[in-house]
Amino acid sequence: MKEIYKPLFEPFTLKNGVQLKNRIVMAPMTTFSANPDDTASDAELTYYAARSNGPAMVITACAYIQANGKGFEGQFAADRDTMIPSLRRVASSIKEKGSKAVLQLYHGGRLAVPHLIPNGETVSASSVAPRLDRGFYSIDKTPRSLSDEEVVELIKDFGEATRRAIEAGFDGVELHGATGYILQQFFSPHSNTRTDRWGGSLEKRLTFPLAVIEETKRVIAECALQPFIIGYRLTPEEPETPGITMNETFALLDTLVEAELDYIHMGITDFWSKPRRGVDSKQSRMELIAEYVGNRVPIIGVGSIHTPDEAVQALEQTGIPLIALGRELIVEPEWVEKVEQGNEKDIKTTVNPNDQALLQVPEPLWELMMNVKGWFPVENV
Ligand SMILES: Cc1cc2nc3c(=O)[nH]c(=O)nc-3n(C[C@H](O)[C@H](O)[C@H](O)COP(=O)(O)O)c2cc1C
Repeated sequence: MKEIYKPLFEPFTLKNGVQLKNRIVMAPMTTFSANPDDTASDAELTYYAARSNGPAMVITACAYIQANGKGFEGQFAADRDTMIPSLRRVASSIKEKGSKAVLQLYHGGRLAVPHLIPNGETVSASSVAPRLDRGFYSIDKTPRSLSDEEVVELIKDFGEATRRAIEAGFDGVELHGATGYILQQFFSPHSNTRTDRWGGSLEKRLTFPLAVIEETKRVIAECALQPFIIGYRLTPEEPETPGITMNETFALLDTLVEAELDYIHMGITDFWSKPRRGVDSKQSRMELIAEYVGNRVPIIGVGSIHTPDEAVQALEQTGIPLIALGRELIVEPEWVEKVEQGNEKDIKTTVNPNDQALLQVPEPLWELMMNVKGWFPVENV
């Protein structure tokens, strides 16, 4: 390995004592590839196994925790005990290759897909329709506002999914609070217009995410026999007004820090992107967040980090300890190994349309990679 890449291979210990063997994490990526009964498919297991030798920690595709939260075709489930064997297969396919396995827990809320959920009825903090350009699909549906009782049930169901993750042998869970899904819907002044205990002020909009974290931690304390990771993913800003601003994100970060998580994970597509508004600074959002949080909790940065030089620069310029790679690990499953072995020049940065079998990418994801323009760097052959 080249001397300059050594910072990527220093071990890192999380607050709960779990040791990560290096600084690279595989970002959560939906593969659209579950079996028709929403168990993980063999193709998905092969895909994980091919990518779990190098990174210290692999965060899975998001798994839905309630039937009415399903947000993707071919999304695997964590909402029933009968799914534990399927979850166990996912955890094993990752852990057998040497990486920590973290299950991402998800509820789509108003971005759940009507034809995939019971009665086609979406639910959210409030009855506010999503913008058609938000989320992976265009959801042209106004959600029903959850009752207080249902909110309490939803919190419990995040806990139940955590228990299943523990029973399935995962090393941790990540709460998906990013990309406009339900945790973000409760925090956002755009989608949460409630006036009860779950909304009305910034503090009250934080009540739901905090309650989910507390329930998750309660279940971990009760069920996990060894240190179990809890992380939280967030998107720092929303384009809407009102909508989440950087200042509100700082308040969320304070809440997350106080909740003593093992890590906070950014949900952005460009590591160096600048704030949209409201902050008088030339710094990127990652730099602002890294500076604000300091050493209070480890941050995972992400977004279009392609090369080991870019990864080292991202760590050193911001001082954060961990970098997640998403598309880069689909395009180059052996990204980490190649850097470690001094073969970084062989890292593939584009996808050859003939290489599906070589890259072990399940068919539904491959089709999207080939057909959604600008998403993946596909070669013209
Ligand atoms: C195919 C695909 C599926 C994704 N699915 C998820 C997901 O399930 N949960 C999530 O939090 N982010 C998801 N993302 C976002 C990634 O985790 C990551 O933040 C994003 O791709 C930017 O990182 P990259 O430039 O390294 O790919 C997905 C991205 C891709 C490309």
